[in-house]
Amino acid sequence: MRGRLQFAGLVLLLFVLFAAAWGYFYKESQQAANDQVEFLIGVSQANLIEPWRVVMNREIIEEAAKHKNIRIIFTDAAQSSQKQIKDVEQLLQQGVDLLIISPNDSAELTPIVAEAYKHIPVIVLDRGVQGYDYTLYIGPDNRAIGREVGKYTAELLESKGGNVVEIQGPKGLPSVRDRSEGFWDILRQYPGIKVTDIIVADWQRDKAEDEMVKLLDRQSKVDVVFAHSDYMALGAYKAAAACGRNFEIIGVDGFTGAGGGLELVQAGVLQGTFTCDTGGKEAVQYAVDILNHERGIPKKVILRSKKITRGNVFDCLKPETGKEQQKSNRKICLGFSQLGAESDWRKANSKSIKEAARAADIELLFMEANQEQEKQIQAIRYFITQKVDVIAFSPVVENGWTEVLEEAKLSGIPVIILDRAIQPDDDSLYESFIGSDFREEGRRAARWLLENSRNGQPVTIVELAGTVGSAPAIDRQQGFAEIISAYSQYKIIYSAPGDFTQAEGKEVMQEALRIYGNGIQVVYAHNDDMALGAIQAIEEFGLRPGKDILIVSVDGTKAAFAAMLAGKLNCTVECTPLLGPQLMQAISGLMAGRKLPVRIIAAEGVFPQETAHREYPYRTY
Ligand code: AHR
Repeated sequence: MRGRLQFAGLVLLLFVLFAAAWGYFYKESQQAANDQVEFLIGVSQANLIEPWRVVMNREIIEEAAKHKNIRIIFTDAAQSSQKQIKDVEQLLQQGVDLLIISPNDSAELTPIVAEAYKHIPVIVLDRGVQGYDYTLYIGPDNRAIGREVGKYTAELLESKGGNVVEIQGPKGLPSVRDRSEGFWDILRQYPGIKVTDIIVADWQRDKAEDEMVKLLDRQSKVDVVFAHSDYMALGAYKAAAACGRNFEIIGVDGFTGAGGGLELVQAGVLQGTFTCDTGGKEAVQYAVDILNHERGIPKKVILRSKKITRGNVFDCLKPETGKEQQKSNRKICLGFSQLGAESDWRKANSKSIKEAARAADIELLFMEANQEQEKQIQAIRYFITQKVDVIAFSPVVENGWTEVLEEAKLSGIPVIILDRAIQPDDDSLYESFIGSDFREEGRRAARWLLENSRNGQPVTIVELAGTVGSAPAIDRQQGFAEIISAYSQYKIIYSAPGDFTQAEGKEVMQEALRIYGNGIQVVYAHNDDMALGAIQAIEEFGLRPGKDILIVSVDGTKAAFAAMLAGKLNCTVECTPLLGPQLMQAISGLMAGRKLPVRIIAAEGVFPQETAHREYPYRTY
């Protein structure tokens, strides 16, 4: 008996010693882990009842785990904007270094996001906020997703037409509205296809199933169901099984893993799905770059959506691998076709590309095309024969690229578009577009004008347009017109192309002055170089640029700032040419097997004359 007691005592003693040692080492290792934490990131999630958001948080956790120096604090607003505002306030009190927020409601969350942005960087995910008071927005293009679903529906129904049911997420959400509008934009072109019913299933599988069962009771012919999420699509499938019916089902989300859209396509539950990445992973990657003060952080990142069908689902399930290129440690070779050297902007852009390539140790074949599309096409073909690893180019005009881009695709060389977009915008022909939002630049110029011109009085405007058929000329014209068209006193009395050069800008202005003389109140120039040409013409005409005639232009070059300091230019809307670092970063990522966003939009500001003296010393182009 005594021996047994002694033994029990010994076991107890050993247990206590073990527990104490374990506790000590655990505390030490926790302390060590805490010591490594440099940055606290707050994640304010709108709700966790949508499976998509659960995946978003999971991606954030997985990506954050790759960085020992960051710690994440999550909050869940449970679909309440009031709660989300409080969540953000608390995160700020806890001293987070950066906020990632996926807003419950864009308008209601705008003020607190703006407040947070005064103190720390803010990344907005999925639903945007109003204005520009945030560091970076990351999200999908829901309208484009809807359009792609529409095209696929038409493809499935071919010429025979048929009945379609649309299953939507909650009413009033911008993502739901955009997906639906995109879908209808396409289906309107097919009179034989009828959307007979719309079900609102609030992202819930069971609700989709219940409502679909009721619908199948009364609707004898359903050919295709488009569900705004794979989860609701699964509900539609269950309803079909329960009612012994058969139709094609298309979903959205395309998650990997158990129960995800890819598995559902593979199993034949869904005919197809369109990926809608959450941006969780990218948010952490950019957060790390922002916290490390990396250069060239964009303002907007639009994620790529991919069509997944039974034909390609197996390829999509394979793990992503880096290119052989990277394995062989050979230098990456980039073929870049620059459209010309027409402006200060362009020269700065070329310099930025060359310097960034050198810094990233990327071999660069650089060819300039003198603003001639044919020369750019020849350059791209030359790069293909040289078997470069990547081709990038700034297209002089929007149209006419499909054939040569198909040739690049056939030869397996990825293409990145820089600065100017192409039409038709077939994003299967390129990996990513990196550039500015030209339409927004036009809107910004117009907004500045509205705020700075005599209200109620007629305002006569001369527009110096960029190269005919080029993306910046088209978009800046449309963006400007979109804003001023709401005010009848603003009239564009003369508009002509000046090809983005100072010499032609001057010529166009001379002609406008010859026709309208003193009757011109405002010049809107699509770039600074043309505005500088206009300034010369106005002075030669005997008027005072910046005083007798207000001038607003786009780019933000050093020369434009000098003109503002001299009082001759009133405002310049920034369009950054410093895209080299972002391009090289994208290329390195691509070569390492990373999926690129479909659009990366640069961060830019507006500089009225009054701010010129502050900013001038920092202008680098
Ligand atoms: O594509 C960008 C435009 O091209 C710039 O605004 C203009 O200056 C340049 O020539």
